[in-house]
Amino acid sequence: MSCFLYFKDKSRKWKRRSAPELKKQEKSKLNAFERVTKSSGSSSSPRGIPELYEEKAHNLRVFSYDELRQATNDFSRVFKIGEGGFGSVYKGSIKPVIANADPVSVAIKRLNQNGLQGHKQWLAEVQFLGVVEHQNLVKLIGYCSVDGERGIQRLLVYEYMSNKSLESHLFNKAYDPLPWKTRLEIALGAAQGLAYLHEESEVQVIYRDFKCSNILLDENFRPKLSDFGLAREGPEVGRTHVSTAVMGTNGYAAPDYIQTGHLTTKSDVWSFGVVLYELLTGRRSLERSRPKTEQKLLEWVKQYPAETKRFVLIMDPRLEGQYSIHGARKLAKLADHCLSRSAKERPLMSQVVGILKQIIQISDDEKSAEESTVISDDDLTKTEEKSTQSAPSELWRKRMDHLAKLGEHVESASRRRFMILQRGKVP
Ligand SMILES: Nc1ncnc2c1ncn2[C@@H]1O[C@H](COP(=O)(O)OP(=O)(O)OP(=O)(O)O)[C@@H](O)[C@H]1O
Ligand SMILES: [Mg+2]
Repeated sequence: MSCFLYFKDKSRKWKRRSAPELKKQEKSKLNAFERVTKSSGSSSSPRGIPELYEEKAHNLRVFSYDELRQATNDFSRVFKIGEGGFGSVYKGSIKPVIANADPVSVAIKRLNQNGLQGHKQWLAEVQFLGVVEHQNLVKLIGYCSVDGERGIQRLLVYEYMSNKSLESHLFNKAYDPLPWKTRLEIALGAAQGLAYLHEESEVQVIYRDFKCSNILLDENFRPKLSDFGLAREGPEVGRTHVSTAVMGTNGYAAPDYIQTGHLTTKSDVWSFGVVLYELLTGRRSLERSRPKTEQKLLEWVKQYPAETKRFVLIMDPRLEGQYSIHGARKLAKLADHCLSRSAKERPLMSQVVGILKQIIQISDDEKSAEESTVISDDDLTKTEEKSTQSAPSELWRKRMDHLAKLGEHVESASRRRFMILQRGKVP
């Protein structure tokens, strides 16, 4: 999906500077460092990203261009695993710093545009990922920055995520459909990543590019957010928002941000709501190939509110009905809340995390109740076959006993199906 870059202040001139070898930055030179974030600190911390970066930069490894060339067999097409707005991504193998340790797989992203915007995004990625640390954020291992005879080279080296992105699994039919439970776990992990950035890290970070292709999946389908090229520090003390040029991806950016250029953490919450509807429906936020009324996901789903009977019509057909209807309705309501027109009414990401945990619980309870209903129905059918003499009232009592065991949380088709069955049997 295309990123849009729209500079509101067209008179603004960007001064081009050569890229620094970050590891060699000295404190006195920090001012010369081309900042992608402000340095005055955000409302959550007196220190800004550049100051924190200075403290933590030693954790990042500085690679030579030749090292990365070797790691990818000279950036061979065979090793290419993806392509985005920034450039191409390759799978590579690097030698760890510790002697005799086994080589590790990495993903190497190579900037293929020479413009200032690409450089700024590269720098933002190094600075933000050099500072933040969370199980749901992709780990940046190091970078390479060379201004040589062969031109400018900017590369990033990440931990390798073997299951590609959520986008691949949700929209590419070559992959098996994602089960309901996995979708919920991915939503929860991604929400925890955002909650950390907004509410828990020393500096508040607004991610600004939340979308399926930036949610990478590890070998256990655990999600990690990648791409911090558009990230910004939260507002300074006493400010409600960051004023910025509007950047992001069509179909995901909050309308208030697009209209005013005022960026807040609630802009990310809106994008999260969009992804929740993508998880529910298996459709992209924008699909030009669909009939006019269905091209914009958010407009289409409005015709199928969560509390109505027709809501089920928007559910991803690839789920083949294998989901908790109660959980799905609750998820759609959560998405609607995230998609409130007024940014203030949108929930905090920590609240979103809490609700997602409840939805996972509801879905688990419903599934185990359904499983026990199926087993019990089989058992009862066998009993009925064996003893055709049994009085209907006896069978009915057995079913009622079973129903009682289903527990308080069950509020679903399984229970209704069970009741209908009873009515059929009782004379
Ligand atoms: N750390 C990683 N491990 C494994 N695969 C990765 C990694 N980072 C990126 N990829 C793969 O490369 C693809 C392209 O990523 P990239 O972030 O460059 O572009 P994008 O997210 O698809 O688009 P955009 O430029 O709008 O962000 C991803 O969808 C993913 O499949
Ligand atoms: Mg990306």
